[in-house]
Amino acid sequence: MIREPFYDPKKSYEENYEKGPFGDFQKPEKYQNQSEPKYSFLGNKVFFPFGIPAGPLLNGKFVKAALDSGFDIAVYKTVRTQAHPCNDFPNVVAVDLKGDLTLEQAQKGIISKDNYETPLSITNSFGVPSFDVEIWQKDLADAVAYAGNGQVVVGSFQGTKKGDGNVDAFVSDFVLAARLVKETGAKILEVNFSCPNEGTAHLMCFDMAMVQRVSEAIKNEIGNTPLVIKMAYYENQEALKKLLQDVGNIVDGISAINTIGSAVRDKNGEQALPGEGRLVSGVCGEAIKWAGLDMTGRLAELREELGMKFAIVGVGGVSSADDFKKYREAGADAVMSATGAMWNQNLAQEIKESLQEPKS
Ligand SMILES: Cc1cc2nc3c(=O)[nH]c(=O)nc-3n(C[C@H](O)[C@H](O)[C@H](O)COP(=O)(O)O)c2cc1C
Repeated sequence: MIREPFYDPKKSYEENYEKGPFGDFQKPEKYQNQSEPKYSFLGNKVFFPFGIPAGPLLNGKFVKAALDSGFDIAVYKTVRTQAHPCNDFPNVVAVDLKGDLTLEQAQKGIISKDNYETPLSITNSFGVPSFDVEIWQKDLADAVAYAGNGQVVVGSFQGTKKGDGNVDAFVSDFVLAARLVKETGAKILEVNFSCPNEGTAHLMCFDMAMVQRVSEAIKNEIGNTPLVIKMAYYENQEALKKLLQDVGNIVDGISAINTIGSAVRDKNGEQALPGEGRLVSGVCGEAIKWAGLDMTGRLAELREELGMKFAIVGVGGVSSADDFKKYREAGADAVMSATGAMWNQNLAQEIKESLQEPKS
């Protein structure tokens, strides 16, 4: 189902931030759940283990609209310890993919297109913008407090690399970000190890020593507050197993997947998103569902094999109740949708009504 999106790709990030959300999120009717919260997500009761992952919910107004619309887990867009600009407009563009975005196809590159239609896949490239700490802390605290019975807001963050390449300072910045997010009262924290849009050739989530070091440092800081790590698609099974052996007992949850990076050109062969370092950007939506499901299934099997307890958050290409079910069957404790929810603000209600007892 394609509705008017709550993030308008034809407007700048700043305009979306100030005037959004749009579509049915502009004035959502408060969704009435039919029963008490029956599920638990990292120690928090939720009506339904479904939500919107880090990214599309730019600020508290977006988070509140998502909660009101029945998305019971709402992740506030990734923040930093200092203000950071957004990449140039446009930041969201549709891509021309009919089937799966295979890893071979992602290597070769893909073509953008003008219209948003099903099966919907897009590329997004923001560069993880952030406002000053004073601005987002107040706004996030307000959004956290808004979550009612059976709902929870997750605070997502990441560290910022300084030009001098000082690794200790980079690790400390992750820890500071975690502390600042925890100060807002957020009951779950998520660290983004997998942003493909910052011009870095190598995603942090593939540097296992860093993932372990930063996860440990963050956990030392935040204590019992649950920590989720946001990961990209791991092709190599041995590497995934090693990662879990290193961090599976340190972190409380693993959210996978983030987008899959690919070179995106327009139909004339020109770079689709303007600016240096932006030929490759993250692809999400229907075309990456196979990868999200595959990661979820492999994480669940390895969790069992290794006798671990971390929660699995399944992400990638969810746009229907059937997709939600497939992720749950693959082993996801919670499921989230970014692209699907952006273009269908009724998605949580549709999933609940299709899978729970009908309304009396
Ligand atoms: C507009 C947009 C912005 C995003 N920004 C972030 C972000 O700031 N941090 C993050 O961890 N993931 C970000 N993501 C990735 C999503 O959380 C998700 O992992 C990815 O889009 C795959 O899910 P989907 O197929 O449902 O879109 C963003 C995705 C979209 C569509």
